[in-house]
Amino acid sequence: MVEISTSILTIEKGREAETFLSLEKSKTDYFHIDVMDGKFVEKDTYQKMLEYSTYIKRISNLPLDVHLMVEDVKKGIEDFSVAEPNIITFHLEACKSKEEVMENIQLIKESGSKVGISIKPETDIKEIYEYLPYIHVCLVMTVEPGKGGQTLITDMLGKISELKTYCDRKNIEIDIEADGGINLKTAERIKQAGVNILVAGTAILMASDYKVIIDELRS
Ligand code: DX5
Ligand code: ZN
Repeated sequence: MVEISTSILTIEKGREAETFLSLEKSKTDYFHIDVMDGKFVEKDTYQKMLEYSTYIKRISNLPLDVHLMVEDVKKGIEDFSVAEPNIITFHLEACKSKEEVMENIQLIKESGSKVGISIKPETDIKEIYEYLPYIHVCLVMTVEPGKGGQTLITDMLGKISELKTYCDRKNIEIDIEADGGINLKTAERIKQAGVNILVAGTAILMASDYKVIIDELRS
């Protein structure tokens, strides 16, 4: 069964509370929190996403799926673990050494969240293999990180199936999450490639009925 993680990056200003509540009612599996520091990616959503995380925590029991697009991963883990997210994901490209990757994995585990590592479109999938035994989620970016509403990069489908084949062959049990440009047109092929958590922002937030689109993406 595929899970849906709704990205709240592009929620309408001034309608945040009602949006969160209707997403809660629509039973999204996760709220996907896109944390950007203005350095790893151009936009800076850091403070806003901190506020949203603690607010959602207050009004909903649905889990948070925190996606750190930041250079200072340690600070991101410390700041966002306050909201007790289900998953904290950081970018492999933000780490300068294998030791740093392993330290971040350890830090997330100690904070009580599941560990995710994300890779950008141009990063070879093989770079993640050595970390797979230590993490719970691999977040494959299907757009260039930094903003919502982009078109899915179809080359990423091959990358996802390569990861899935590798995990099956090595008996590695991890969740494969895809993020960016996912909608009713692209979801089918993404699922066939082996993804079990779909992130969608625009496709869900532009729909008149969140529950309908979330159920359709999931089915
Ligand atoms: C992009 C973010 C994605 C994005 C998804 O940097 O990581 O989560 O918000 O939004 P859509 O579904 O609109 O591509
Ligand atoms: Zn994201």
